[in-house]
Amino acid sequence: MTAVGSGRTRLEGHDKVTGAARYAGDVPADGLLHGWPVLATIPRGRITGIDTSAVQAMPGVVAVLHHGNSPRLVEGAGWTDADPNLQLLQDDRIPYAGWPVALVVAETFEQARAAAMALPVKYHAQPWDVTFSAAHPGLYTPDEVNLHQPSETAHGDLDAGLSASAVVLDRTYTTPEEHHNAMEPHAAIAQWVGGRLEVVDSNQGSYAVAQDLAKLFALDLSQVRVRSEHVGGGFGSKATTRPPAVLAAMAATVLCRPVRVVLTRRHMFSLVGYRPPTSQRIRLGAAPDGRLLAYEHLTATQTATTFEYVEPAGVVGKVMYAADALRIGHRVVRLDVPIPKWMRGPGEAPGAFALESAMDELAEKCGIDPIDLRIRNEPAVAPGSGRPFTSRNVVACYLEGAKRFGWYERDPRPGIRREGRWWLGTGMGAATYPGETAPATAAATAEIDGTVTIRITAADIGTGARTALAQIAADALSLPVEWIRMRIADSDFGPAILAGHSFGTASWGLAVDEACKALRARTTGTPTEPITVQVNTAELIQAMGRPERHAFGAQFAEVAVDVLSGEVRVRRLLGVYAIGRVVNPLTARSQLVGGMVWGLSMALHEEAVRDPAFGGHLNANLAGYHYAANADVPDIEVGWVDDPDLANPTGIKGAGEIGIVGVAAAIANAVWHATGIRHRNLPITPARVLATPPEGPRA
Ligand code: MOS
Repeated sequence: MTAVGSGRTRLEGHDKVTGAARYAGDVPADGLLHGWPVLATIPRGRITGIDTSAVQAMPGVVAVLHHGNSPRLVEGAGWTDADPNLQLLQDDRIPYAGWPVALVVAETFEQARAAAMALPVKYHAQPWDVTFSAAHPGLYTPDEVNLHQPSETAHGDLDAGLSASAVVLDRTYTTPEEHHNAMEPHAAIAQWVGGRLEVVDSNQGSYAVAQDLAKLFALDLSQVRVRSEHVGGGFGSKATTRPPAVLAAMAATVLCRPVRVVLTRRHMFSLVGYRPPTSQRIRLGAAPDGRLLAYEHLTATQTATTFEYVEPAGVVGKVMYAADALRIGHRVVRLDVPIPKWMRGPGEAPGAFALESAMDELAEKCGIDPIDLRIRNEPAVAPGSGRPFTSRNVVACYLEGAKRFGWYERDPRPGIRREGRWWLGTGMGAATYPGETAPATAAATAEIDGTVTIRITAADIGTGARTALAQIAADALSLPVEWIRMRIADSDFGPAILAGHSFGTASWGLAVDEACKALRARTTGTPTEPITVQVNTAELIQAMGRPERHAFGAQFAEVAVDVLSGEVRVRRLLGVYAIGRVVNPLTARSQLVGGMVWGLSMALHEEAVRDPAFGGHLNANLAGYHYAANADVPDIEVGWVDDPDLANPTGIKGAGEIGIVGVAAAIANAVWHATGIRHRNLPITPARVLATPPEGPRA
C-alpha cells in the first residue's frame, strides 16, 4: 500500500489545534517593538507634511518612519516584475487611498495603534478617478495580461462565423472588485541576528521574499533568512513580498530591535492585492446543432497607475471549447486604485463566470442540454495554441457529475419547480485551471536513527502540502510516512517555487521525489553519519517544456430562490474534477471544498464598494464585505475521475484553484433555472434578485 493516495490528517494538525504552531504574528522576541502602518486618506496627490512631534511624545512611541527619514530602498525588487508596492516610505507621492505614508513603532501593539491614529498627515490632493466602467475613455489594449501572456488571441474569421451562425448570443457579464482576506492577516517579525536579517513572515514563498529583501536592502542573499513555517491562508494575497516584511525590516534596521508588523483587515483591503472588477462581453455564434462557429471574449478591467496587472479573464477560451473562429481580447484602464493581483483562480474564476453563463444561455437558445452542448464543442487540440493536451478528462467529469447529481432528471424549462415560497432550480458550469510545474530545490537526509529529513522551501498555507510531500517521500524511499521529517518554508533550504498557481505540490513533489530517489541511489539502510543529497529540478522542468496541461472539472448547483425577499439559498453543490494524481484525498477534498465555498461566496455575497468621493472603500472590513458564512454553505460533495498524466512524472496537476472556477456560473445558471431570470452581474444579492426584471415571456 502506497502512502500516496491514502487520506492522512495534517502532520502539523496537533500543533495547530493545541496552539503550539507559531504563526508570524506569534513569534516572541526580547525587546519586541510593534509597527503600525498609517495609510493615506486620499487617492492621489502628495504628502505636504507629517508632524511627528506630538505623536513622538505619546506613551511607548519609539519612532515614526516616513519618507523623510526612512532607510532608502533599492528599486527593482519583485517576483518576475519590479513591484512598486515594495518601495515603501520612499517619497511623498500618493498613488492610491490606503498607501502607507508612515510606520509608527511603539513598545506595545496598542501604543502603536493609538499613535498611528493620532498622527497628523497633510496632503495636497490632485484630481482622481477610481471608478471603473466598461465605457471608460481611458481603456487601452495592454501588450500582455497576467502572467506574461498575450492580451489578444485570435484565429479564423470571426465576422464570417457570426454571419453563418443560426444562433448568436451577445451578452455582457460583470464581476465586482473582490478581496481575499485570509484568516491569518499578513504579519512579519524582523530582526538582525548575528549579522543576518532574520524575518518570519506570513507568505506563500519564503525564497522569493528573501530575494526581494536582499535586493531592497542591498544585502547579499546569504545575509537574509525568511521563514514562514505556518501560514493561515494566502489565496494569492501572500504570493509575493508584502509590506509587513519590508516595513518590519526597515524598522528593525533603523532601531536595532526586533519589530513586528501585523496588518488589520482594513490594511489588507489596500496593501495585498485584490481581484479587479471585470466587464466581459461574450459573443457566441452556433450552428443549429450547437456547434460553435464563432467565439469572442472581450474583457475590460482596471489596474493601478503604478503597475499594470491585467486580470486574464479570457484565458478560459484558450482551453475550453472548439470554435471555427476565436477572438480573445483584454482592455484595461489605469485608475487611482491599489494594485490588483492574483486572487484564487486569477483569470479563470471571473472568466468562467462569463463563459459558463454564456454557454448556458446558448444551450437554452439552441434547445440543447448544457452538458450536451459542451460535449459537442470538445476541442481536439487546445484552441488557443493548436497544440495537443497532455490529458483532457472534462467529459468524464460532466458524466460522473451528471450521474451523481441526477442532472438528467431535471425538467429543462425554467421557473416551474416550487416548494412553498421557494423557487427551485439546478445549473452547471465547467472548470479549468493549468497544471503546470516549476523548479524547486529539495534535500533529503538519511539520519542515523533511520528516519529521513526532507528540506524544501515549500509553503503550507493550509493546503496540507507538508503532509502530501511526506507521503511522496515515504513512497520514494519505501518508508512509512512516520519516518519522514518535514522541514519546510525556510529560505536557507534553497530556491523553490512559491505556493501559487496551483503548482506547489506538483512542483515540490517532483523535487522531493527526485531527492529521495537520489538518496536511495547513494545509500540503503541506516547510515552511521547523516547523508544528505540535494537536487534542483530546473533542468528537468526545462526539458519538459510548457505543454498544454490542464486540470478540469464540472460544477453542479441546486438553489432555492425566494422571489419575495430576493434571497438565494444554495441547497447542493457538487464538483467533480480531473486533477491528475490525488496525493492525499483528505486534504485535496478540503482544498476543493474550500474553492467551491469561494465560488458560492463570489456568486452571492462578495463585493468591495469604492466611494468616488474619497477614493477608498465603503466596506473595508468583514462587517461590510460579506463572505459566505457557515450558514450560507450547504453540504458540498466533491469527487474526481481518473486522470493519468505523467507529463509531470508525479502525475499531480494541483487542486488549489480549480475548485472556485465555474461555481459562480453554476449557481447563476441554477438561479435562472429556478426563476427564468438571468443574472449577469455578480454578486446575486437579494437587492439584485428583486430588481432584475424578466426578459420576456416565461416558457
Ligand atoms: Mo494563487 S491566486 O496563484 O496564489
